[in-house]
Amino acid sequence: MRILITGGAGFIGSHLAERLIAEGHRVSVLDDLSTGSRDNLAAIAGHPGFFFTEGSILDAPLVARMVADADVVFHLAAAVGVRLIMEEPSRGILTNVTGTERVLEACLERNTRVFVASTSEVYGKATKFPFSEEDDLTIGATVNLRWSYACAKMLDEFLALAYLRERGLPVTILRFFNTTGPRQTGRYGMVVPSFVTAALQGAPLLVHGDGTQSRCFCHVADVIEALMRLLARPESSGRVYNIGTDQEVSILELARQVKAAAGSASEIRLVPHAEVYGPGFEDMARRLPDIARLEAATGFRPATPLSRIIADVLEEKRAALAAAG
Ligand SMILES: NC(=O)c1ccc[n+]([C@@H]2O[C@H](COP(=O)([O-])OP(=O)(O)OC[C@H]3O[C@@H](n4cnc5c(N)ncnc54)[C@H](O)[C@@H]3O)[C@@H](O)[C@H]2O)c1
Repeated sequence: MRILITGGAGFIGSHLAERLIAEGHRVSVLDDLSTGSRDNLAAIAGHPGFFFTEGSILDAPLVARMVADADVVFHLAAAVGVRLIMEEPSRGILTNVTGTERVLEACLERNTRVFVASTSEVYGKATKFPFSEEDDLTIGATVNLRWSYACAKMLDEFLALAYLRERGLPVTILRFFNTTGPRQTGRYGMVVPSFVTAALQGAPLLVHGDGTQSRCFCHVADVIEALMRLLARPESSGRVYNIGTDQEVSILELARQVKAAAGSASEIRLVPHAEVYGPGFEDMARRLPDIARLEAATGFRPATPLSRIIADVLEEKRAALAAAG
């Protein structure tokens, strides 16, 4: 198939591009390189079935041309990460709302199958665990701009599902939970690469809050496997799926495991949320997905333990630090 990945130079998108090329598909990537990088695509850059275009999903004519040339679209481009959203909320909102609107409108032209990246953030402050796809979503006040990311992604979901209902557009919503692994950068507040880099440099591992908050970290290779299985099943269109693992770990325990795996003498230091993101910042205590729907549809179960995830990120960051001298 001819597959377009928006945001394909990013963390998840570049792994997806590699896997699709390995399986014989033709892959086009549209990315503005704001958080992604061409280095992420180095392994497939010279492949005859791979095409890269530097540009924005906000460029409607460009998006229309690229979508017209695709059988399937994975729409992953977005302003991602709490730090980035807190620093430039308006850019985040425009990219994540207007950009998605442009991609979906282009897909309407030929009724192109489209996968839309959403996020576990949409569950917000919900307290019923685990989170299931049709649960109520509970977000905070608008003065707390953190919630703009969740709200923008919710609007993306609504628009995609509206086009499905009104025009029969084959859309699949991917609610990614914490995905991690090689190529994820710590620059925008992602915790695993941040901890690993700090541990390797002997810098303190900064745990926000009291560290009892927990998350479920899924290896990007497992996430890609889930996406490949959904791609192979046209009947997945029209549905929302949680994508991730249900193996939970507290952030303090994660810091301890990273420190031990790295053999690091780094201090683990607790830092109040307000000090990192300003006063009034809200964080969620848990974010645990119910992945039964994904498993029932595809037979997928995440396979990679946290120890392996940490080892893979350590290996990558060690090599990067060594190369940087
Ligand atoms: N990694 C996670 O844990 C996670 C969790 C929940 C949701 N997601 C979602 O998955 C998708 C991929 O995230 P990721 O972790 O790979 O992040 P990423 O930042 O590595 O990837 C996003 C990519 O989109 C590109 N991009 C941003 N704005 C663009 C624009 N206007 N035009 C074209 N390209 C643009 C960036 O350059 C980058 O390559 C995003 O939609 C994100 O919201 C990721």
